[in-house]
Amino acid sequence: MTKQRKLRSTHWFGAHSKDGFIHRSWLKNQGYPSDLFDGRPVIGICNTWSELTPCNGHFRALAEHIKRGVYDAGGFPLEFPVMSTGEALVRPTAMLFRNLMSMDVEETIRANPVDGVVLITGCDKTAVGPLMGAASCNLPMIVVPGGPMLNGKFRGCDLGSGTSVWEFSEEVRAGRMSMSDFMAAEEGMSRSAGHCNTMGTASTMACMAEALGLTLPGAAAIPAVDARRNVSARLTGRRIVEMVNEELTPHKILTRAAFQNAIRTLGAISGSTNAVVHLLAIAGRIETPLTLDDFDRWGRAVPTLLDVQPAGALLMEEFYYAGGLPGVLRRLHEAGLLNPDALTANGRTLVDNSATAPVHNDAVIRRLHQPLVEEGGIAVLRGNLTPAGAILKPAAATPALLQHQGRAVVFENIEDYKQRIDDPDLPVDESSVLVLKNCGPMAYPGMAEVGNMGLPRKLLERGVRDMVRISDARMSGTAYGTVVLHAAPEAAAGGTLALVRTGDGIELDLAGRRLHLDVSDVELARRRAQWQPPRNEQRGYAQLYVDHVLQADRGVDFDFLVGCRGVEVARESH
Ligand code: FES
Repeated sequence: MTKQRKLRSTHWFGAHSKDGFIHRSWLKNQGYPSDLFDGRPVIGICNTWSELTPCNGHFRALAEHIKRGVYDAGGFPLEFPVMSTGEALVRPTAMLFRNLMSMDVEETIRANPVDGVVLITGCDKTAVGPLMGAASCNLPMIVVPGGPMLNGKFRGCDLGSGTSVWEFSEEVRAGRMSMSDFMAAEEGMSRSAGHCNTMGTASTMACMAEALGLTLPGAAAIPAVDARRNVSARLTGRRIVEMVNEELTPHKILTRAAFQNAIRTLGAISGSTNAVVHLLAIAGRIETPLTLDDFDRWGRAVPTLLDVQPAGALLMEEFYYAGGLPGVLRRLHEAGLLNPDALTANGRTLVDNSATAPVHNDAVIRRLHQPLVEEGGIAVLRGNLTPAGAILKPAAATPALLQHQGRAVVFENIEDYKQRIDDPDLPVDESSVLVLKNCGPMAYPGMAEVGNMGLPRKLLERGVRDMVRISDARMSGTAYGTVVLHAAPEAAAGGTLALVRTGDGIELDLAGRRLHLDVSDVELARRRAQWQPPRNEQRGYAQLYVDHVLQADRGVDFDFLVGCRGVEVARESH
């Protein structure tokens, strides 16, 4: 297929010169015939496959389906690996490496002869870092999510990834589940290829990619092992070639309207709180204005429609069979909650794609007048404790705790928490507010998923299942509880959180969106004068991270990565 327009890749492959010789001839060692270098779109397939990222373990096969699609449409696919971080294995936290992964993706795209890119995304950070990196390039891009695992099974019941683990581990600590049963459950938790089968961060970010318009319709929820995942991948391969020819760049898709639709979808699916920092970071890369308050403003009136764990009872398999994300989007559109201006990767608007989408099971994708939770979305809390904001997911919380006053029980860091939480002498009761410091972006470093800290054993044994918890950490998208997260500024940056002491009064008022530390300004000033930032000496990448990471209200990106640089390369290589 011959192009009328000069493609970016032509600068590498189009010249009858020494450079053109080098660029073509070395690639031909992989068996590519000369006609693939005739000016057709070159499509980079950005693969986050790794055996160390079990959720992405099937991606090499998925990439082959994308390549077939690219060839179908007259393109030339070239697959490349990028850094991959598996949430289940990486220490200290995969979030430490999200920005590094984005740099890998951005620089690989810019440095190579690609005209468009397909991002194969899966496990949490691999569903975000590639989008950030590619957005900074503003080259036509489209996402193929890897898909969720089949439902876990244990003694005839379904098991949700993550969510069931949190539940079982608390049952073991409370003495209600034996260790042998706990180990037996492990065997049935992860039964197939794919990412977590709950509405954790991976499923959420797949839905966010679809709601932003970066996938083909319906791509987010297809189980990883369902043949329709491969069909969708092949069709995506075909579509990216057209997108290159149409010059359909991320700037045209990732508009403020698209983020409004994504945030409303986040409320309707009761998605992971991690989506907040991730969407802020993606918006920053494409230079679309987006603030923390947009999440509260746009998400506040959105009912949660989806009955999937952790907010609900079911899993991603049921979601797909019930109609998948297009079913949710249809319901949002019927409620007047979708912005009709947002364009998607297939060239149509999100509303056009979903207005007549079928919903096969109203128990899974609820009707608007029978929601799972009246007000989904993410609440943004401010006050003297979190002047730059903190977040709470009401759908995952205990309603009775959403208006609460209690005394703080403070842990200076995660090690302090682990040492003392089960101390029988810990001065704590069910009305206490657990406060965890120094787990934010700079301090950990990387902003660990420890905000849903387990409850004291002595309270668990008395049947307490939830308490108000506050930290500058994140929590797993598969977790639940009345948990205030992402407190900004974080303790290590000198936020008020650093000044809280055990016994201080704290008031949480969800309706008023307020989080107040009942300590006078004079006393806070006195404590601040005594405060010393924690020592945090790192080396290499971790030091770069600490020196440049932005706070949670700005997406935890690096200050020097915000913005769109495009794909211009200053110099040629030879
Ligand atoms: Fe990979 Fe949950 S561990 S998505």
